[in-house]
Amino acid sequence: MTIRTLVITSSILGENGQSKALAEHFIDQARGRDDLEVTFRDLVADELPHLGLTELGSWQVANEESTAEQRELASRSEKLIDELRVHDVIVLAVPMYNFGIPSQLKAWFDRVMRAGVTFRYTENGPQGLLEGKRAVILAARGGQYAGTEKDTQTPHLKLMLGMIGIGEVDAVFAEGLAMGEAKRNASLKEARQAIDGLVQRL
Ligand SMILES: Cc1cc2nc3c(=O)[nH]c(=O)nc-3n(C[C@H](O)[C@H](O)[C@H](O)COP(=O)(O)O)c2cc1C
Repeated sequence: MTIRTLVITSSILGENGQSKALAEHFIDQARGRDDLEVTFRDLVADELPHLGLTELGSWQVANEESTAEQRELASRSEKLIDELRVHDVIVLAVPMYNFGIPSQLKAWFDRVMRAGVTFRYTENGPQGLLEGKRAVILAARGGQYAGTEKDTQTPHLKLMLGMIGIGEVDAVFAEGLAMGEAKRNASLKEARQAIDGLVQRL
């Protein structure tokens, strides 16, 4: 069985970003397995605008009543959700910017988290509608916060993924990247080793 993997990058540093380097390491390791198929989505090279009212409204209009502009706007979210649906493993390469995720990645979540499409509200609370998927977070950070209350980024990501039905999430951290060369090198090495282990277990 082929494991279809969607790798989503969101560093404004592009090729020089450490999260992108971790994603590339993941792919290099994954290519060693012949049952993995990889798709790339770079949310900075292919940037989404902030979600606005006109686009939000385009989701509510029935297809037969919608204008060409509304269909075009609605297709932005539909294409991203379709892409998500056909992949089994979602790899999010995530820089930390001001304790949060890049706004480009938030714009992606704003398109794929849709009530009635990827989750629904029930009497018992929200229910995710995507099934059989898992996610891997590859986090790059200048400081060191994993496992502390200052890391609000990881719970935020897990909450959003869980909301749409992706409850199985592994996280690899490359931290302290701005805390001197020795720390940076050790941290990147450790993260690459953690990725190697993860790819074997996919
Ligand atoms: C605008 C901006 C904000 C940042 N904010 C934080 C932060 O809040 N905490 C932190 O640990 N590092 C912060 N950093 C450092 C980045 O997390 C670090 O450079 C990391 O390598 C970013 O991932 P990237 O190399 O893939 O872009 C920030 C960097 C930038 C450019």
